[in-house]
Amino acid sequence: MKELSLKSTIYSADFSELTDQERELIEQAKASTYNSYAPYSHFHVGAALLLKNGVIVPGCNQENAAFPAGICAERSALFAAGAQYPDQPVLMLAIAVRNSKGEFLAEPASPCGPCRQVLIETETRFKHPVRILLYGTDHTYVMDGIKELMPLSFTQI
Ligand code: THU
Repeated sequence: MKELSLKSTIYSADFSELTDQERELIEQAKASTYNSYAPYSHFHVGAALLLKNGVIVPGCNQENAAFPAGICAERSALFAAGAQYPDQPVLMLAIAVRNSKGEFLAEPASPCGPCRQVLIETETRFKHPVRILLYGTDHTYVMDGIKELMPLSFTQI
């Protein structure tokens, strides 16, 4: 049996190392955390997408008493973009989280499995990787495409 080693490249950046456009997207993701509806988890997730036409689409988690009926910030933004700008490739996604004390997390949070799968579909659909910025007050993780977080992913189209 052969061992198959898979490599992921993720950069850890100081906020000052990011471009103006990246910083702006993170600010939008941070602002979106204030629209999050999270009375159960108190985990306020904000997302912001940059589309090819320059439009920024925000998203945030929306919870529900029937837990599976809620949705994550990433998918809320990706589906809103799909509904409003179906032909626009998604270039970049920023995510930020505030905890139950209202503080931004020091360590970046990473997208859940279903959100990763939707990101795979987005990249496949537009034939373009989505640059991902996971914001934390200590550092921001940066990667060029969801494949860095999801090797051997499932696609059909
Ligand atoms: N959540 C997100 O919005 N994005 C993720 O990638 C992980 C989790 C939300 C779902 C739920 O409202 C809360 O965070 C706690 O899991």
